[in-house]
Amino acid sequence: MKKVMPIYGTRPEAIKMAPIVKALDASPDFECVVTVTGQHREMLDQVNELFGITPDFDLNIIEPRQTLNTVMAKTIAGLDAILESEKPDAVIVQGDTTTSTAGGIAAFYRGIPVVHAEAGLRSFDIFSPFPEEANRKMTSQISSLHLAPTSVSRGNLLREAIAEDDVYVTGNTVIDALFDVVELAVPFTDPALQEIAQKVAEGTQLVVITTHRRENQGDAMHGVGRAIKRLAETHPDVLFLLPAHRNPVVREAVLPYLEGLANVTVTEPMPYGEFTHALSLSTVVLTDSGGVQEEAPSLGKPVLVMRENTERPEAVEAGTVRLIGTDEERIFNDVTELLTDKAAYDKMANAVNPYGDGRAAERTVAAIAELLGVGSRLEEFDDGLTRP
Ligand code: UD1
Ligand code: UDP
Repeated sequence: MKKVMPIYGTRPEAIKMAPIVKALDASPDFECVVTVTGQHREMLDQVNELFGITPDFDLNIIEPRQTLNTVMAKTIAGLDAILESEKPDAVIVQGDTTTSTAGGIAAFYRGIPVVHAEAGLRSFDIFSPFPEEANRKMTSQISSLHLAPTSVSRGNLLREAIAEDDVYVTGNTVIDALFDVVELAVPFTDPALQEIAQKVAEGTQLVVITTHRRENQGDAMHGVGRAIKRLAETHPDVLFLLPAHRNPVVREAVLPYLEGLANVTVTEPMPYGEFTHALSLSTVVLTDSGGVQEEAPSLGKPVLVMRENTERPEAVEAGTVRLIGTDEERIFNDVTELLTDKAAYDKMANAVNPYGDGRAAERTVAAIAELLGVGSRLEEFDDGLTRP
């Protein structure tokens, strides 16, 4: 039996790692030892709880407003002793957070093979998203196995001279997680959300909003707050739902603009099942999130992305995602267009699945089995795109 250690610490990593943990647990070839850093706390625990995952180790590194260097330093120091005592045959890290890069470095320095899930995403600007573009490039340098979600990300890795045999297209496990929960249409516990669901059933339009990106914090995020206020005032019959990220910097910038607006509901971070239910009820999604850019197209929801660039061009090319930046006027105009122009709306509202078919975790485990000499890979995910 081979010992594999998933290492993760934030909400999106937890959502995307959960299907992998489940698949490792179900395999007779593996012992799965889950280590969380606690870079996030409530938002991480919420996901582990939903998927029934109890971490074996928890570094609990969170402190309010801590710097990236502190996250990096505490993660590497905390993991070192665990890696020494547990001696996993491989670790798996996910995506581009500071936890994931720190986890990769800690394992690499101990001579333990690093498996990188969601490898090869590139915006081609190391300052946007910051620090994620740099994080994922660093992880690519030290990984033994690169699990690319799509052929686009595979192409990015090959152009960086990563050996072709070490790259394998799995699809993104976020689609596995989404398929797992979305059909359940998890009932809302909050009466305010139950009321929204009722109104949507009666034909009211709903805009779901999330924002947190570090490079948008400051003036840009204030602009986002002002744009939502203007939208809510201009479209009093439309509902706006914003589950607020726990980051106090985000809350301080956006929430003051939304006070006293009857058609705007601000909630705590929603449990994944309830959030994906809300996405499925939405008319339009306005976000700067990576994961939401992958999920909403799968549900056929038009997504307006408040960023200048994206490492996820697949759904932009499919027409379901549009990059709009953070200019207040542009946000106002583009959301208004989708709420009022049926032809423009229908053009974007296509269900596309370039990010996965729900079998990414299965492929991930098979690839790890091959890496560790106890199995062989499955057929790759075919995203239907031309291979770059
Ligand atoms: C992190 C990731 C980002 C990812 C995002 C997902 C890095 C550098 N950034 O950004 O890639 O897109 O998570 O949400 O790794 N906080 C809490 N409780 C929580 C979570 C956060 O109180 O459960 C507060 C803390 O004050 C914390 C702050 O939010 O210091 C920021 O958290 P941090 O993980 O540093 O950055 P994010 O912006 O969440
Ligand atoms: N999400 C959630 N509850 C919420 C908001 C988002 O469960 O209230 C999920 C969402 O479905 C997606 C993930 O969190 O899978 C995205 O996390 P986030 O936007 O924090 O990070 P990113 O994907 O940008 O790294």
